[in-house]
Amino acid sequence: MMNKICCFLLACLSIVGVHAADVPAGSERTLSIIKPDAVATNHVGAIISRFEKSGLRVVNLRMVNLTKDQAAAFYAVHKERPFYNSLVDFMSSGPVVAITLEGPNAVAKNRELMGATDPKKAAPGTLRADFAESVERNAVHGSDSNEAAVTEIAFFFDKNNRKISCD
Ligand code: RTP
Ligand code: MG
Repeated sequence: MMNKICCFLLACLSIVGVHAADVPAGSERTLSIIKPDAVATNHVGAIISRFEKSGLRVVNLRMVNLTKDQAAAFYAVHKERPFYNSLVDFMSSGPVVAITLEGPNAVAKNRELMGATDPKKAAPGTLRADFAESVERNAVHGSDSNEAAVTEIAFFFDKNNRKISCD
């Protein structure tokens, strides 16, 4: 009898978990990272405020100190690039804030809010134009596709927000 009750409770919990991870129709999710430069210059609140004012919803958030190995794994797509080692050092140099954002066209909307990689080329009013120091220390990261978003969100959060891969 106890076994049956336990199984029923576990089934209920898993159903709740699955629904908690659902993305509303017409919405998608993307990963933002507020990078160490913008955390150090006290721009966390201003950046999150821009997301919320644009209509993007914060559905998950945590501050993490990435190890060099974790930063290297996150940016592995760039491992052949000349700036890779420096990027890994920078991304593991201080706390970052990882945020899952949700809303219609979240991936593209976040990239638009961020502006170009090089703040000198970023459109006025974008996060990088306003908060970035240089092409490397450029305040924010954003997923560049839905496929990347799925992988990157899973790097920091599990689907039920109970466990992460980078404690
Ligand atoms: P992110 O991945 O961080 O959102 O940036 P992004 O798509 O705009 O640019 P990406 O080409 O993916 O580059 C990743 C990050 O590497 C650093 N970077 N440094 N020194 C350089 O020339 C250089 N180029 C890129 C930046 O931190 C960039 O955001
Ligand atoms: Mg990128």
